[in-house]
Amino acid sequence: MPTIDELEKEYLRKHPKSKELYERALKCYPSGVTHDARFAKPFPIYAVKALGAKKWDVDGNEYVDYVMGHGSFILGYGDERVVEAFQEQIPKAVHMGTSTELEVEWAELIKKIVPAARDGLIRATSCGSEAIAMAIRLSRIYTRRNKIIVQAGVYHGKGDATLLAYHGPPFGKCNTLGIPQGVKNDVIIVPFNDLEAVEKALATGDVACVLLHCNNLYTEEYIKGLRKLTKQYGAVFIMDEVVSGFRYAAGGAQEYYGVIPDLAVLGKVIGGGAPIGVICGKREILDYYSFKDDYWNRFIRIAAGGTWNAQPICIVGGIAVMKIILKERGTIYPRLYEIGRRLTKSFNEEAEDLGVTAIAVGLPYENPSLFTLNFLNRPAPSEKMYLWQTGPTSFEDYWIKAEFKAGSQAEYVNYLALTNSGVHSMRGISFITCTKYTEEDLQKTEEAFRTTLKALKENNLIGTAE
Ligand SMILES: Cc1ncc(COP(=O)(O)O)c(C=O)c1O
Repeated sequence: MPTIDELEKEYLRKHPKSKELYERALKCYPSGVTHDARFAKPFPIYAVKALGAKKWDVDGNEYVDYVMGHGSFILGYGDERVVEAFQEQIPKAVHMGTSTELEVEWAELIKKIVPAARDGLIRATSCGSEAIAMAIRLSRIYTRRNKIIVQAGVYHGKGDATLLAYHGPPFGKCNTLGIPQGVKNDVIIVPFNDLEAVEKALATGDVACVLLHCNNLYTEEYIKGLRKLTKQYGAVFIMDEVVSGFRYAAGGAQEYYGVIPDLAVLGKVIGGGAPIGVICGKREILDYYSFKDDYWNRFIRIAAGGTWNAQPICIVGGIAVMKIILKERGTIYPRLYEIGRRLTKSFNEEAEDLGVTAIAVGLPYENPSLFTLNFLNRPAPSEKMYLWQTGPTSFEDYWIKAEFKAGSQAEYVNYLALTNSGVHSMRGISFITCTKYTEEDLQKTEEAFRTTLKALKENNLIGTAE
């Protein structure tokens, strides 16, 4: 079984050109990377091609891919119908800075598929972070209130307000240099699944919106409870479906849980691989983008341009994907769930057989189209393992979770072992799936799971189950 040293040597041996590129990149980018999740030690792999469920790097290594363009692809890379849509568009116009028939078609498809948009309106942005910031601003204008409620520990993109909740525990305090106190004053961070905490905050009467980061572990009761409480207290309920949209189900987490928010934020899949974001939902809220009389336009209306908003190159791929979803939803989602269930089950059975404290957690738990690998670096009593299956339900839970989380060494070794085995995911722990894996791809992934768990056990980097 490989030692850490052997795993490192194998990684270096397999990736000489990536190493060279990383050395050049270090002279260009902070830490040599363009996205936090692409940072890897000793250096990231540099990809040259991706097709279906596979990706190839500059050194000619082939990977079964679970990054899927950070979740932008449910049909795998380079689906020929989507590629054709891009190819047809490029010679006509990438961008015209005008309204187009394409944008009307794109919005009509969104309205057909996404519950929040069905009777409402839509506005395009360049990315999910921007759409989240706009949704928060719209909710503040609509309610004439300031505060926002965010779930602890989740990522809603790069905006000041939501970034406060991302790092922790303690939440709202880690990595927050550069976020002004004025912004901090208006953010209320709540633990998952704690309706009482949400109601207490809503009862102050100054909450504009409650944000739900949908690709996380919540109980159905919590999601439905948020819908009910936001209605009761007149706050806007925003579902962040940047990842769960078109993935949990065709209509996202809204369809999966049967809950329709006031606003939904979309991204990723809706661009078919191109940069995109969307805010959709109630007419009376999106109406703050509408032009009316002079007083309204000057003092009330939200001002918003956006060079890339719904320009042809950003939406032709999304149009193709949505057309495929409408035709094939009956096979796409059962296939995604089947793959997620199989891989999480394989990982968890292997961990159990080896008697180690590791768990793959599916999102959504029962029907995953994405999942995370979690390693605990010490023996864990079974009553603590629930944290990895149901999500933390109090701030105390987050501290316990943090305490049990393996040090970076376990994640480092896991990344090396999986990448050396030809399986690539974000940081080695975050897996996003597509429909295109073959039986061989899945077997290769299961074999890689066995290799990594054994390596972690034999290098004493993982706890044993009690
Ligand atoms: C749930 C969620 N919301 C928002 C964002 C931000 O989207 P973007 O990267 O398009 O700005 C992300 C990005 O990964 C995300 O995962």
